[in-house]
Amino acid sequence: MEKRIAVFASGSGSNAENLIAYFEKKEGVKVVLVLSNKSDAGVVKRAERLGVPCQVFQNAQWREGDPVVQTLREYGVDFIVLAGFLLRVPEALLHAYPNRIVNIHPALLPRHGGKGMYGDRVHQAVVEAGDTETGITIHYINEHYDEGGIIFQATCPVHPGDTFQEVAQRVHQLEYQYYPHVVEQLLHKLP
Ligand code: GAR
Repeated sequence: MEKRIAVFASGSGSNAENLIAYFEKKEGVKVVLVLSNKSDAGVVKRAERLGVPCQVFQNAQWREGDPVVQTLREYGVDFIVLAGFLLRVPEALLHAYPNRIVNIHPALLPRHGGKGMYGDRVHQAVVEAGDTETGITIHYINEHYDEGGIIFQATCPVHPGDTFQEVAQRVHQLEYQYYPHVVEQLLHKLP
């Protein structure tokens, strides 16, 4: 049976696009829906351009959770992939999709995680801390920010004098390289 993915994103959506493109070439897996909490997010335009249905929910609907679960059911979604999604995942979703929601964090958790740590803020913190290494963490989502079980990590160096933009670029490359592949492996293990 085909596995159907929903991607949640709040920002530019370059990971969402990369996931969509990757699974377009694969049999048996499809990104069927993009959900966002921001109507002006880059990901909304990307989904449109790529021909993937996209829905934007208001923050109150996200908090309530049930309208989102209903939409996911309508699209027959089996698995949820967060790609730069900045809201907390509501309880109703965690119950509806146990162990079927994953996130990518642009650092090596538990370093530089938690509330308010996303995107460039994470890379700034890495540079300010003088870390010599950073990377990506793919993990399950639970009720606490960035604390669900870790599935996969990959590292890259931080060179002396690197700007946070340079670090961000290196980390993005790791995301593009690994995220679709790791999601695919998880999908193969689904009942
Ligand atoms: C990605 O780097 C992702 O790891 C990060 O947001 C970026 C989204 O970029 N997520 C977090 O920081 C979550 N805490 P994109 O919109 O271009 O895919």
